[in-house]
Amino acid sequence: MDELTIALTKGRLADQTMELLEKAGYPCEELKEENRKLIFHNRDLKLNFFLSKGPDVPTYVEYGAADIGIVGSDIIMEENRRAYEVLDLGFGKCRMCVAGPESARDLLQHHEMIRVASKYPGIAREYFYNRKHQTVDIIKLNGSVELGPIVGLSDVIVDIVETGSTLKANGLTVLETICDLSARMIVNQVSMQMKTQRIQEMITNVRRALEDR
Ligand code: PRP
Repeated sequence: MDELTIALTKGRLADQTMELLEKAGYPCEELKEENRKLIFHNRDLKLNFFLSKGPDVPTYVEYGAADIGIVGSDIIMEENRRAYEVLDLGFGKCRMCVAGPESARDLLQHHEMIRVASKYPGIAREYFYNRKHQTVDIIKLNGSVELGPIVGLSDVIVDIVETGSTLKANGLTVLETICDLSARMIVNQVSMQMKTQRIQEMITNVRRALEDR
């Protein structure tokens, strides 16, 4: 049996990912313990798991440090790493949106030169330059992006909207929807060739677990 290393995204997706993997027959008891460990094993099943920041998951998978990664499609789009995307896991559903104060709607419609703050400069660039053909100034932020329009750093933001409560609490609104997002399973391209049987079996088992939900 080939050993498999699986990179998981810390934070919001982690619990649902572990629940799904457990249901599919890939449990990891060590992961449930509260400590500062970064790597966890299920030695009986020859599985290694590690938790990392979302944007690093496609990096670990591209370089083969992980055979498999579980990560949001926002991050896959933004990081643009080489890996096979094999499954939509159906959770972590949200939307990538352009948001801002209602007053910014006109700026978008009239293709004005605006400032866009985002944790996702790649997605923002692709959307404004290639899809909308609008020249904008993109400012990279690392979190609490909603602050951008509030403090006058930017006219709008490009960010994830899940419940909409962060926007609402800050007097902002969705102005345009870029795309739908959800958690995905990605696979290293070499691992797919070298560990085909084990990886295909895992994809099948996870797909079945998803269908049973
Ligand atoms: C994300 C996102 C929004 C918020 C959207 O931020 O960037 O701020 O969640 O969720 P909602 O529509 O349910 O309110 P996150 O909590 O990951 O923190 P961050 O802004 O510090 O990155």
